[in-house]
Amino acid sequence: MLKISASLLSCDFGKMNEDVHSIENEIDEIHIDVMDGHFVPNLTFGPVVIKDLKTKLKKDCHLMVTNPSALLEDFAKAGADQITLHIESFARESVLIELLERIRKMGLKVGVSLKPKTSPFILRGILDKIDQVLVMTVEPGFGGQAFMPEMVEKIKDIRKMAPQLEIAVDGGINAETAKLCAAAGASVLVAGSYIFGAKDRTQAIRELKSQ
Ligand code: DX5
Ligand code: ZN
Repeated sequence: MLKISASLLSCDFGKMNEDVHSIENEIDEIHIDVMDGHFVPNLTFGPVVIKDLKTKLKKDCHLMVTNPSALLEDFAKAGADQITLHIESFARESVLIELLERIRKMGLKVGVSLKPKTSPFILRGILDKIDQVLVMTVEPGFGGQAFMPEMVEKIKDIRKMAPQLEIAVDGGINAETAKLCAAAGASVLVAGSYIFGAKDRTQAIRELKSQ
């Protein structure tokens, strides 16, 4: 069964908790896009926002930042359940591995995300150290972009390398693109505008789940 993660980036920030509450029983996780205005040209949430998020669901913080090391403890204290790091934030794999271990020691799950131009084979050395791969199916930075169909092959490559791993996809997910991702081996669908922009959110989520 596919898991659905709702991306908070597309909710109404003036009523974040109400928006989350409106779909809480239909989804599996909340996806929180943390952007620093440097790694990506946009700014979003810091730990204080996560602290005020009232939900029983798993909170995955997708860190699109240049210096994730400085933020890990603050996000853990604020209530993150999983931290997803971008592999492109690291010049050396050993530093990434150090941070993955630090996250685990705090009792959190760990994910690693890949930008569209990053090869899936770069994951070879860390597949046994992570809980989830997050495949970006748009250039990170903004919600509401079109899905990049070239990413379907990448999902297949990762599935071949890691038959048991949770593979999430993020960007441009709707009922049609969800089908392509699920067929390629994705197990978690992250969706923002398709869920929060829908007239009937429950219906939109059920469509995603049934792919
Ligand atoms: C983009 C973010 C995504 C974004 C997805 O950088 O990582 O999580 O919110 O939004 P949609 O589903 O609207 O493409
Ligand atoms: Zn994201």
